[in-house]
Amino acid sequence: MAKGFYVSKLVAFVGIFFSIAAVATIIALAVVYSNEKSNNNKAENGEATTTVSTVSTSTALDGPTTPASNELWDRYRLPHHLIPQHYNVDLRPVLTKNENGLYVFNGVSEAYFTCRAATKHVIIHSKNLNYTNPPKLTDEYNTVIDYEKHFFSTKTDFLILELKGELETLKKYILHTEFIGELAADLAGFYRSEYVEDGETKIIATTQMQAADARKAFPCFDEPALKATFNITIRHKPDYVALSNMNPIDVSNETWNAETWQVTKFAQSVKMSTYLVAFIVSQFSPAGNETVKANIWGRKKAIVDEKQGDYALDKTGLILEFLQDYYNYSYPLPKSDQVALPDFSAGAMENWGLVTYRDTALLYDPNESSIGNKERVVTVIAHELAHQWFGNLVTIRWWNDLWLNEGFASYVEYLGADYAEDTWNIKDLAVLNDIHRVMAVDALASSHPLTSKEEDVNTPEDISALFDSITYSKGASVIRMLSSFLTEELFKTGLQAYLKKHAFDNTVYYELWESLQEAYDNEANRVYLPATIGDIMDTWVLQMGFPVVTINTTDGSLTQKHFLLDPTSVVNHTSPYNYTWFVPISFVTNSSVEGHVWLTQETGMNSSFHLTGDNDWLLANINVTGYYRVNYDDRNWDRLLQQLENNHTVIPVINRAQIIDDSFNLARAQIISTTRALQTTRFLSKDKYMKQQVEPLFWHFNTTTNNFKDRPETLTEQYNEINAVSMACSYGIAECEQLVTELFQEWKNTKINKIHPNLRSTIYCNAIAQGGEDEWNFLWEQFNTTTNAQEADKLRAALACSKEPFILNRLLEYSLDPNKIRRQDTLSTITNVANNVVGQNLAWDFIRANWKTLVDNIGGGMSFGNVISGVSRRFNTDFDLQQLQDFKKFNTDNNIGFGTATLTLEQAIEKTRANIVWVKQNKDAVQNWFEGAMGHRDENTHI
Ligand SMILES: *[C@@H]1O[C@H](CO)[C@@H](O)[C@H](O)[C@H]1NC(C)=O
Ligand SMILES: *[C@@H]1O[C@H](CO)[C@@H](O)[C@H](O)[C@H]1NC(C)=O
Ligand SMILES: *[C@@H]1O[C@H](CO)[C@@H](O)[C@H](O)[C@H]1NC(C)=O
Ligand SMILES: *[C@@H]1O[C@H](CO)[C@@H](O)[C@H](O)[C@H]1NC(C)=O
Ligand SMILES: *[C@@H]1O[C@H](CO)[C@@H](O)[C@H](O)[C@H]1NC(C)=O
Ligand SMILES: [Zn+2]
Repeated sequence: MAKGFYVSKLVAFVGIFFSIAAVATIIALAVVYSNEKSNNNKAENGEATTTVSTVSTSTALDGPTTPASNELWDRYRLPHHLIPQHYNVDLRPVLTKNENGLYVFNGVSEAYFTCRAATKHVIIHSKNLNYTNPPKLTDEYNTVIDYEKHFFSTKTDFLILELKGELETLKKYILHTEFIGELAADLAGFYRSEYVEDGETKIIATTQMQAADARKAFPCFDEPALKATFNITIRHKPDYVALSNMNPIDVSNETWNAETWQVTKFAQSVKMSTYLVAFIVSQFSPAGNETVKANIWGRKKAIVDEKQGDYALDKTGLILEFLQDYYNYSYPLPKSDQVALPDFSAGAMENWGLVTYRDTALLYDPNESSIGNKERVVTVIAHELAHQWFGNLVTIRWWNDLWLNEGFASYVEYLGADYAEDTWNIKDLAVLNDIHRVMAVDALASSHPLTSKEEDVNTPEDISALFDSITYSKGASVIRMLSSFLTEELFKTGLQAYLKKHAFDNTVYYELWESLQEAYDNEANRVYLPATIGDIMDTWVLQMGFPVVTINTTDGSLTQKHFLLDPTSVVNHTSPYNYTWFVPISFVTNSSVEGHVWLTQETGMNSSFHLTGDNDWLLANINVTGYYRVNYDDRNWDRLLQQLENNHTVIPVINRAQIIDDSFNLARAQIISTTRALQTTRFLSKDKYMKQQVEPLFWHFNTTTNNFKDRPETLTEQYNEINAVSMACSYGIAECEQLVTELFQEWKNTKINKIHPNLRSTIYCNAIAQGGEDEWNFLWEQFNTTTNAQEADKLRAALACSKEPFILNRLLEYSLDPNKIRRQDTLSTITNVANNVVGQNLAWDFIRANWKTLVDNIGGGMSFGNVISGVSRRFNTDFDLQQLQDFKKFNTDNNIGFGTATLTLEQAIEKTRANIVWVKQNKDAVQNWFEGAMGHRDENTHI
């Protein structure tokens, strides 16, 4: 390894402390995530989300972004005088450049709507569309209605017709338009994407309407509550295929510009929101199954030659079967197409009947894909298909309730994936992926509540900022908690009633609670609840954060307190419940007494929690179904830890992870001592698969897998094997480095890659870290030639593992060059470099130097905050803090701003402050413990 990147022992130990909770959690769960998985977690959010964003406060009327004039079209929300019923949309994407060097689409559309309140204006969303003829307004009998003028409000994305008279209440009208739009490579609206197959560049025209880009494809009333039916017609060359939400009903030929074109007309859609409309023109091939009417589409090579769609096809059938039963509602459309796109901003998008995915989230190749890739495919499919009912059939009224839509799908994805892969125990991963992950963010004073007020979410940026980990993971965590305390059966009954009642309509979040409450009231054998479901859930939905519950087994008392990572931080959000929650507490004792109680106020008392026997212990929050942390009196901690050391199998596996994660976080928050937290990891040596030291673990797998040639059988062991190799190499164990070198050199020499997909991320990364420019260039070449997107992601991640600053700087430069690295991957490439100890400062310099470019290019995107959270992850000095503050000041003063990363920056500052304080107070304790527990180590420890 290169010189100069060794850190002092102290810093190393502190670093281990900061990361051990995560590692230990993983080990205790005995389900280890490969790097690629955690880099790519959430379904729509693409990236691992540690960002939290909030909504700006621009209000419709006189917020700061509204100019002096106060016309209806200066507000971002539609006035709702006009209610759409139907659209005819006819589009011709031209997949060759025009005389101005642009790719464009021509469009003709008719919007049918009813007037609900008399008005002098037709106001309809339209963005970046040039009208080739003046819009024509008619009534339903085709009588033309004159207007004074038409004009645009580009800030609020409206086309406005100012009428001579007024439209009359209850009458129906039709707006006819002809327009041209650019088919840009901007991943939004109707856009263009390119890929190379057999040396030939191929072009796709595809869509991503969510949240506010249907208006870029055709003029429409672009709000989720304004549902309508759609007749879509797509014109394309005969050697392309057109797909949309519905099936084609008519295909004919026409001549256009002296060429033959095909006209594909699709059946009228069901009533749906504009953000779920989709159409794609491509040369993709299907992997299909007539019996389930599901097709997987993608590049011909991937689908036909390499059969990479077969796994998704197989699981789609199973998941649809599961969901129809779970919802007790047949799949609402005649077909389900799922399409793998080489260029896609999110992870996947639940367009009704035409779901789109990144290649990596849908395609699976047993020869190239790892177990983590496979798991991602099945969970993302389950997530998107869950939305086909919850989200598409019943839709939130406005984006402020996005958390319900995403939280629900992020919970149900585990149920669907569990059905499709029933030997994996995949439900256990919810604790790791959602609960513990989002608690890290929700424990900050700069977090925010799940809901926002409808009037606080207006601009497209406000809406984008809502797609954060609170929305997805906290949403999933509280819905999982609700399902658990109601019982899964009752939850299902209420959910089914909700879908039936609101099908093809819109709701606000508490309408789900109402359906659940009805089901509860009708149930004879119901569990006890201390209040209505709405009252209970409001405490989790309307206030940010979560409690730490302290159970004192000496006197049976319970208390709850808002858990803050930095106890000195100041909470600016006021809470209507004064930061107390309705907390459902499940528990078990050493004598196998199980129970369930509610803590409804700040303090409580319960005789079950009063332990009298000498060795009695109590464990609360069984399987971490509750969204809170647990602390105990010292005596109970001692006994729990003793139990773990004596016979840890008595404690449920998820709770072993919980004990570690809770204790490390309680120590970070200075609620318990640091040594107590460290003690919780001692029992890990008792785990069946794990040894205290990494080396024996490495040898364990070396022996059982015939020197890493075979794979262990179960999912769990496969993850453990990956983790063992990864840890062994990062601790510099010679045999591991040798394994890496041998495998990599063999590939480099023979050009045949025999490294098993599960181990590739780890082997590649370590080979690049150990190697020089030669190895890096070899991998770069592989990255440019592979046809498998998952393989490309593994290679790209490994390119960031170099220890050479000049190489890392080169990669950073490439990240802004779309010819070298796809724009969808800019963000994660920079974050990959930042995650490398050597790369952190380089990435930070790069981000600061290119901040304006980054904000302009990708700053409005959903996961933009990752770039800040990634680079500041290890910040813990006054100098780091000063730099962050300077960065904030400079970009604020110069009006560059922070895109959707505004709140992430606040959180980075808060977290850095907390880290500085914590390191100052705890470094001695950490150092002493490690020295005692680990024995002598070199003065310089590489981490
Ligand atoms: C629309 O008009 C603007 C302004 O004239 C022009 O810059 C743009 O290229 C046009 N778009 C298309 C797709 O023709
Ligand atoms: C349309 O044209 C294509 C290619 O020219 C031809 O193969 C096809 O049969 C035609 N289809 C119809 C419906 O005329
Ligand atoms: C939409 O298409 C259907 C056929 O799928 C047709 O019956 C209906 O008239 C069309 N609607 C309009 C308004 O053109
Ligand atoms: C289609 O899917 C169903 C359900 O998953 C399965 O039973 C059947 O074998 C599949 N048929 C083909 C031709 O793959
Ligand atoms: C638990 O209760 C005992 C007896 O009331 C008290 O002395 C002790 O401080 C309490 N411990 C905690 C952690 O609250
Ligand atoms: Zn979703």
